[in-house]
Amino acid sequence: MTRSIEHGKRTGFATLGTGGLNFDSFPMRLFSKGNAKHWNPADIDFTQDARDVAAMTDAERDMTVSLAAQFMAGEESVTQDLQPFVAAMAAEGRLADEMYLTQFVFEEAKHTEGFRRWFDAVGMTGDLHGHIEDNEHYMQIFTDELPNSLYALALDPSPRNQVRASVTYNHIVEGTLALTGYFAWSKVCQSRGIMPGMQQLIKHIGDDERRHMAWGTFTCRRHVAADDSLWDAVDERMQELLVPAMGVVTGTFERYEEGEPTPFDVDMNEMAEYAMDKIGRRLGAIESARGADLRVIDVDAAPEALEERFHAEDQAELAAV
Ligand SMILES: [Fe+2]
Ligand SMILES: [Fe+2]
Repeated sequence: MTRSIEHGKRTGFATLGTGGLNFDSFPMRLFSKGNAKHWNPADIDFTQDARDVAAMTDAERDMTVSLAAQFMAGEESVTQDLQPFVAAMAAEGRLADEMYLTQFVFEEAKHTEGFRRWFDAVGMTGDLHGHIEDNEHYMQIFTDELPNSLYALALDPSPRNQVRASVTYNHIVEGTLALTGYFAWSKVCQSRGIMPGMQQLIKHIGDDERRHMAWGTFTCRRHVAADDSLWDAVDERMQELLVPAMGVVTGTFERYEEGEPTPFDVDMNEMAEYAMDKIGRRLGAIESARGADLRVIDVDAAPEALEERFHAEDQAELAAV
């Protein structure tokens, strides 16, 4: 008989079925890996960060705070907006993905906590909305595109909606915005020898985000392997969001006068190139799943290996700074 583990409609138990949980499946691998990597945001010492922020020029402090505000509000958004995906995995009977996503949500909540502790430590407890609200593309993504594509799963968790949600959440918000921003920002902090607490926070977050990204690539791969027409859905959603995603980056920098040096000499074009390179290579990993056997995709660690390769490239670049 067919048993259901869908939320509120349980007629059986995935763990009691023949074979139990497949620990070689990709989501279970990520789950076990994450279980071995717990860290506590409250352990990070931000006292030197407070001194460094106080010593900045006004323009440097303004840029630091607006980037940290974008990161923090982004982490809060992804903490909330992943939850429909957890339910969608249960509706599909995918307990391993559901288990991994509970860890994923927990990690996003820790990222949110980490940034809030940083703001408290540097003494910024006033209202921070003014640092993000004039960035119209940021607002479009975090108050419209992200929540709408994820909460669409609550009404209809179809493969097409899952692909659109994953491209928005994993490939645009995490891959293009968060990972690019965190890399550029850790490069600034490291090259100047400032904000050791922020550097540590971003390092831990990056460790988590690589697994999140790998899950996003895996999820798109399994849908594309099962139904080749969904490759177009990946591409279509990517095209819809590339302009606003790049707009978030340019919106952050365009308030600095033309010809004036950007605080910390951040190079916007370099960031855009970094983002496009990663998008292209992750899309390549998804495209390689077209026509593949789903049983192979389910245990194929390629999405994880790709993120590890990106990490090694980042480390090499940071070491050269
Ligand atoms: Fe995060
Ligand atoms: Fe994430």
